[in-house]
Amino acid sequence: MTAEPMLSRYSAEYDLPVRGDPITAERYTSAEWMKAEDDHLWPRVWHLGGVLADLEEEGDLIRHNFGRESVIMVRQADGSIKAFYNSCPHRGNRLVLGDVGSTPRITCGYHGWQFDLDGTLARVQDPDDFPGGNPCGKVHLTELRCESFGPFVFWCMDPDAKPLLEWLDPFPARLAGYGLDNWVRVLNLSADCDFNWKIIRDNFNESYHLPTIHPELSTFINDGLSDTLFEMYPSGHNSMWMKGHQATTRADHVSGEVPAPLDEIAAAWGIDPADYKGRTADIRQAVIDAKRRLGAERGYANYADMTDQQLVDYFHCTLFPNLTITMSPEQCQILRTEPHPTDPAKCVFQHWVLVPPIKGMKEVMTPVGPVPLRHAEHRHSVYGDGVSLGFVADQDLSIGTSQQQGLNSRGFKGCILTYQEKRIQRFHELLDDYVKGRI
Ligand code: FES
Ligand SMILES: [Fe+2]
Repeated sequence: MTAEPMLSRYSAEYDLPVRGDPITAERYTSAEWMKAEDDHLWPRVWHLGGVLADLEEEGDLIRHNFGRESVIMVRQADGSIKAFYNSCPHRGNRLVLGDVGSTPRITCGYHGWQFDLDGTLARVQDPDDFPGGNPCGKVHLTELRCESFGPFVFWCMDPDAKPLLEWLDPFPARLAGYGLDNWVRVLNLSADCDFNWKIIRDNFNESYHLPTIHPELSTFINDGLSDTLFEMYPSGHNSMWMKGHQATTRADHVSGEVPAPLDEIAAAWGIDPADYKGRTADIRQAVIDAKRRLGAERGYANYADMTDQQLVDYFHCTLFPNLTITMSPEQCQILRTEPHPTDPAKCVFQHWVLVPPIKGMKEVMTPVGPVPLRHAEHRHSVYGDGVSLGFVADQDLSIGTSQQQGLNSRGFKGCILTYQEKRIQRFHELLDDYVKGRI
């Protein structure tokens, strides 16, 4: 990790040093490592729990199952949102069993204890039969921290963690121009997968795999290293800017023709691809100009606050430890892996797509094809059963199981990383610091 890069571009301001800690297999395979994460990592970070669109009215609630935990977020009478562990104080039964719901009181299905929306026990069977007296008004659901950002609600188990907006730094500022607040979640997919959650975290922390795993992206996303900007922030989060509306500048992909689908994308903005033969790279600027000219009349009110870069490029935000927000001007993708409750070789993969609400638009294109432009219900599957999680996500997931199997081999001696994969190194060093109690 000490050699100077020949091609990779880390921003001068956000190219943090790494130590070179070995990245060996046990962190992906061992129960001990999984327990260390459960003890020292997951209780200390903010978790994206859902979208505010599911919490519009008093009594609306979201349940988020995470590893061995389950958390509910509940809209209060005063408009605030509270989060509670989804565990009944009587004898531990899970209180809420569905993804979303709405209720005037949270009721346990076992012995019928009822809790007000603020978590206070309100009603029990046989209230006089408790040695310490009637517990109503005295017993509460165990509360967690709960804060929101844009269209999202988050929870955190750590009373000492930074406030959410500080935790997310620098993304609240970097994402402000997109105008995410009123975007609509049109896709809400998840799947059980046969690999450790970090396999996909590593994948999102590098673009080295694009030519092999996603070759078709090379015609409209420029994954050339000298055109890609990597950043690593003091908060532990990373990002990668990739030029969009531009074919790759990797030498063996360069062509004079305007490739598909870039030709169609250009045409949709009134640009004749024939005018750009031999200068395909100039289409990116032409699209910026066209979006500035035509965006508002086509309903994209949010273009006005975007930078030129935001109007055409892909901004991949990889937040420590397990959340990716991939931004394009018309689409926000949430890509995340969460640990299995007990098995280090399994995880849950989630893929949400949010889009701006364009007036009059009924349908919108997503990675699984066109879907109605309205709030989507959750669909869960088992990876490999034939349900698509999005065509690019499917490609990423396709290596997960085989990588997990390869990591199990006695012959694997630890990762050998390119310089451009430095964000993987930093991720694992931060993880080391958490699980070993150094931070
Ligand atoms: S476990 Fe909830 S009421 Fe008994
Ligand atoms: Fe990928």
